[in-house]
Amino acid sequence: MSTTHQDQPTDPTEFWEQRYGGSDRVWSGNPNPLLVREVADLTPGSALELGCGEGADAVWLATQGWTVTGVDISQTALDRAAAHAADAGVADRTTWERHELGTTFPDGTYDLVSAQFLQSPVALDQDGILRRAAQAVAPGGTLLVVMHGGWPSWAGAHEHPVPDARFPTLDEVLTALDLPADEWSHVTVEAVESASTSPDGRTGTRVDNVWRLQRR
Ligand SMILES: C[S@@+](CC[C@H](N)C(=O)[O-])C[C@H]1O[C@@H](n2cnc3c(N)ncnc32)[C@H](O)[C@@H]1O
Repeated sequence: MSTTHQDQPTDPTEFWEQRYGGSDRVWSGNPNPLLVREVADLTPGSALELGCGEGADAVWLATQGWTVTGVDISQTALDRAAAHAADAGVADRTTWERHELGTTFPDGTYDLVSAQFLQSPVALDQDGILRRAAQAVAPGGTLLVVMHGGWPSWAGAHEHPVPDARFPTLDEVLTALDLPADEWSHVTVEAVESASTSPDGRTGTRVDNVWRLQRR
């Protein structure tokens, strides 16, 4: 197994299995606020959640009436997501599929295709996956992508776990997607700044980028 200087695997499946296997819970369990904000005015239908992790967003969507397929590279994360869905009483509205999305992708089209922080310190074909995600949006449906736009303001350079991390700009993702203007409209393309607190309590801000695109 090849490893980084921090002795972490560089293979994406091994990296994320180790990340999830290292603790009982990695994420908060709460839905991402920008997903909640952007989905509020959509009529529930079918949804595909890419890089769903432990399932907080997918389970929240299911509680709002969506029928959700959650996808992740980590089986450990997917097993937690399925347990979370059962606890929330939405097991019948959720399906979980393991894919390395740069290699295989779920079948079908969906009213909502969402990728929340599908970002990784190891290999990830982000542009290719987002282009494939757009193809999976049904006519009239929505592609919703949210990504960190940079490190939090409180993090000094010595605290950047991946010094050469890639934070694509609003324009870079639109260019990579290359969606025909007569078929897609831009509902939200915005950099959103919010409060951020470091693990040891330092306060600051963080910028997240939002792309909400609707297929005509
Ligand atoms: C930064 S986490 C975000 C998790 C969740 N969406 C959230 O907002 O809390 C990135 C997620 O993408 C998944 N992931 C990374 N590379 C992937 C790939 N190639 N295919 C599928 N999932 C991947 C990871 O396992 C992880 O759950």
